[in-house]
Amino acid sequence: MTGFEAYLPTRIVFGSGSLKTVGEQTRQYGKAAVVIIDRFLAESGLARKIEEALSAAGIVSYTFSEVEPNPRCSLVDQAAETYKDLNIEFIIGVGGGSSIDFAKAVAVALTHEGNVWHYVNEPGRPVGEITAKALPMIAIPTTSGTGAEMTAVSVLVNPETNVKRGLYSESLYPKMALIDPKLMVTIPSNLTATTGLDALSHALEAYISVDASAYSDMLALEAIRQIGLHLPAAVHDGANPEARSGMAWGAALAGAAIAVSGVTLVHALAHPLGGWYNIGHGEAIVMGLLPVMKRTWMLNFPKFRNIAEALGVSVYNMSPKAAAKCGVIAIGELIEETGINLRLRDFGVKEEDLDKLAGDATGYMAGCLESHPHVCNVEEVKEIYLEML
Ligand SMILES: [Fe+2]
Repeated sequence: MTGFEAYLPTRIVFGSGSLKTVGEQTRQYGKAAVVIIDRFLAESGLARKIEEALSAAGIVSYTFSEVEPNPRCSLVDQAAETYKDLNIEFIIGVGGGSSIDFAKAVAVALTHEGNVWHYVNEPGRPVGEITAKALPMIAIPTTSGTGAEMTAVSVLVNPETNVKRGLYSESLYPKMALIDPKLMVTIPSNLTATTGLDALSHALEAYISVDASAYSDMLALEAIRQIGLHLPAAVHDGANPEARSGMAWGAALAGAAIAVSGVTLVHALAHPLGGWYNIGHGEAIVMGLLPVMKRTWMLNFPKFRNIAEALGVSVYNMSPKAAAKCGVIAIGELIEETGINLRLRDFGVKEEDLDKLAGDATGYMAGCLESHPHVCNVEEVKEIYLEML
């Protein structure tokens, strides 16, 4: 076994109904918090519920409910400006990846000099150092997708350049992931499917990455197994508590897997789509997932065989090649079972745009691209985008 390093410091509080403990669980982080949530969730009454639980524990909270998909760095700066004189001691991010990433970014912006984009790891310029001054951040996911509750990354969009990149620091690991599957039963089936397939992609990418280790493999394979078992039921029978719990756990495990070994080609293709066309992250991932896996399974027969088994396929007595092929077929069938079938043209992308996208995927996303078992050149990336069109 090759050596590895792993650091996963997030305390996990998992369980149906665990939201009601948010006050007592977070009291240790201070007496004043900002709750970052999107408007839709805030209006659903969730923000009020959290405020009341915090208040009962003696915590004053301020709710910021302006978060949008593909959060802009300028909005993070604006939020930090609003709360900078209120002695905020910790941040709570409630929602999908956008809210949790936004909360991590506010934890930096409130404690570090200058604009938050200065701390985004963008090639070709000096990057500000994120220190342990970043405020403690608590993640309460309401979708089973991004795994942001387990990672030290916050992905933002710079509206001036359409670049979508991450802030990264060990100080950005949430202090706690409060995962309450009950919060997920009302997610519409489309969003359940796209976010669930994002989680599947995390697990698959972490598993096949050249940076994979025995530790991330353990997390990724169990994530694939949980998602394979529970995604169809979560999509088609959203109130099913077992399916929601299984997906919540699968997404958290997949998040932990990418926290250790990172994402690869599917994410390298997806980020420019969010940056230029504001395509939702899960939707961008869904379009690239199968085209990438179809080009990858023959590069690692043993791993794709294990993927097949994790997705419930019996590969007993099969040749390594046949067993591996079952892995990619099972991925395709799982995507099909969710009923999601999207094309880039549905979002207004045109063939003449593909050079620009391929330039970004091989440019500022080169780090992820190079973690894939085969490093695609710009022509190969364009070919995959063409298939997604
Ligand atoms: Fe993702």
